[in-house]
Amino acid sequence: MSSSLVTVAYIAAIMLFIMSLGGLSHPETARRGNFYGMLGMAIAVLATVFGPSVTPAGIAWIIGAMVVGGGIGLYAARTVQMTQMPELVALMHSLVGLAACAVGFASYIDPASSAQFTSVEKTIHHVEVYIGILIGAVTFSGSIIAFLKLSGKIGGKPLLLPARHWLNLVALLVVIGVGAQFLGAKTIDAGMMPLLIMTVIALLFGIHMVMAIGGADMPVVVSMLNSYSGWAAAATGFMLSNDLLIVVGALVGSSGAILSYIMCQAMNRNFISVIAGGFGSGGGAPAAGGAAAEPQGEVSAVSAQETAELLREAKSVIIVPGYGMAVAQAQHTVYEITKTLREKNINIRFGIHPVAGRMPGHMNVLLAEAKVPYDIVLEMDEINDDFPDTDVVMVIGANDIVNPAAQEDPTSPIAGMPVLEVWKAKTSIVMKRSMASGYAGVDNPLFYKDNNRMLFGDAKKMLDEVLTALRA
Ligand code: TAP
Repeated sequence: MSSSLVTVAYIAAIMLFIMSLGGLSHPETARRGNFYGMLGMAIAVLATVFGPSVTPAGIAWIIGAMVVGGGIGLYAARTVQMTQMPELVALMHSLVGLAACAVGFASYIDPASSAQFTSVEKTIHHVEVYIGILIGAVTFSGSIIAFLKLSGKIGGKPLLLPARHWLNLVALLVVIGVGAQFLGAKTIDAGMMPLLIMTVIALLFGIHMVMAIGGADMPVVVSMLNSYSGWAAAATGFMLSNDLLIVVGALVGSSGAILSYIMCQAMNRNFISVIAGGFGSGGGAPAAGGAAAEPQGEVSAVSAQETAELLREAKSVIIVPGYGMAVAQAQHTVYEITKTLREKNINIRFGIHPVAGRMPGHMNVLLAEAKVPYDIVLEMDEINDDFPDTDVVMVIGANDIVNPAAQEDPTSPIAGMPVLEVWKAKTSIVMKRSMASGYAGVDNPLFYKDNNRMLFGDAKKMLDEVLTALRA
């Protein structure tokens, strides 16, 4: 393949990636968006492998690597549970960081990679190598720690070293100092030591940065690392003089940054204070099972039969799904209930909180999988004013996102987080297995409100019973 044909293929791939991002922004076009992304990636890989920069002998290596990598990816995609998605994503980000480091070292050591450069161009290339390895190493170690926290292999409590901001500042100054030494090095051997020192500092910084962030802030950290992995890929693009990698890296980097910002807003968190760490000692792993503190008060329990009666008598119903619906895989039963109620001319809609579940769009994906029509699935801001005019709200395995303490208790760890105001409906029914708290590990006064009922049990099992009662 000639280099001009490769350029044309890269431009086509870039356009497909942009169309993919556009498609992924709405559930109705998401499938098409995914297809564009896959097509763009296939074109990009083929154009690179058969382009002028790969020798025929190299193709065998690439195919071997693709078979191994593709096999692992296929296995992971088939076996991973939806609820384990954030930790898988964190692990994938670590690989992008590792690749950026590997490419950085390789292109520094390989004299052929900069043989044709003038001395100014060589300095620019070395700056690219230095920054690429720096971002890659932070992304790699930070993502590994995020993976360990999200999978519950290490605790979610923030690790706050004494004078940690000073430590970070000193690390930054050392990185700048050895950077100058690296750029001034006359030989590759002389430059290797400062490069290794910087890599070790960057790895330690990545560990320190994510260790200092509490469990409740982990969703933002995952999207932030997503952004970093994009910048690491862009840096790799600079090192390899590959325009496609630069553009794609920038797309991933900026979309990850925008997502982090949106999530910070949804959780009422300041981005800088998330990075500074220390918030959300509630634990990175789900608090299901009930180690949580339990508030005092009386709750009113209802049966599936009584729930069905309340639903049958209602004119308007809103369903608020959360992490527990994903755990129970109750979305298909939810859809059956929705269909049954719609046949009875009951106005039924869904209220989706931006951070419901464990990943952005988690609930939308599950509801789309169960074929719930998109037009009755509304965002928090679209539906929050409608709760006072709603007869029944059914909260399925959600907790933090419907916690009134966010508005009523300024001392609550989630104070100020926007929530779905389900308690304003005539009756709310919360479906969960116990009185345990949610991800943030905080009490929920909703359970004790006069107009609230608790339907205890696994969401799928209880909804099956509600459906049977509704159809009877
Ligand atoms: P949570 O507050 O975590 O509450 C989920 C509830 O589901 C739990 O209280 C649990 O209570 C219940 N549950 C678990 N398994 C169940 C089952 N099989 N059947 C019925 N109920 C079950 O979830 P949420 O309201 O969706 O809020 C999301 C939280 O996760 C927020 O704090 C958010 O910041 C955080 N977070 C979000 C993301 C993203 S990006 N969405 C990523 C990471 C963390 P029982 O144990 O009593 O059943």
